[in-house]
Amino acid sequence: MKDRLIAAARKARRNAYSPYSNLKVGAAVLTRSGKIYSSGNVENCCYALTICAERGAFYHAIACGEHRFKMLAVTANTDEFVSPCGACRQVIWELAGEIDILMVNRKRQTRTIPLSALYPVPYKKTAKRRLLRHRLNGNR
Ligand code: THU
Repeated sequence: MKDRLIAAARKARRNAYSPYSNLKVGAAVLTRSGKIYSSGNVENCCYALTICAERGAFYHAIACGEHRFKMLAVTANTDEFVSPCGACRQVIWELAGEIDILMVNRKRQTRTIPLSALYPVPYKKTAKRRLLRHRLNGNR
């Protein structure tokens, strides 16, 4: 399953649109039912509109009705591991809670870190869990 997830992240990376940074990132998220959703980063000349690969992958999954996640893979063609930025950590926490983040570098080395280690003190609103429960109960 891990290999499939890494392959999906690597494939999504090829479709990254990053003419400004020239950094292509790929991310793929594995649902508890075994499905995989992926994205590359998509930049914009109005830089703030750029969306990271991780958020792209999660929004892709959410758009397809998925709400239970197991693992996220992130890959870039760099020696150092690319780990999710602060904004993505907040989004991952809200949508997935505690999941493993699997990072893959150019040499195909991997490093896995649980989200709680990357983002130990998330911003929380009580309504957030209620909303998620609402969706999981099928009351959409
Ligand atoms: N980027 C990601 O897609 N994911 C990360 O984890 C870090 C950064 C993107 C955003 C931007 O398009 C480019 O990499 C340079 O920061």
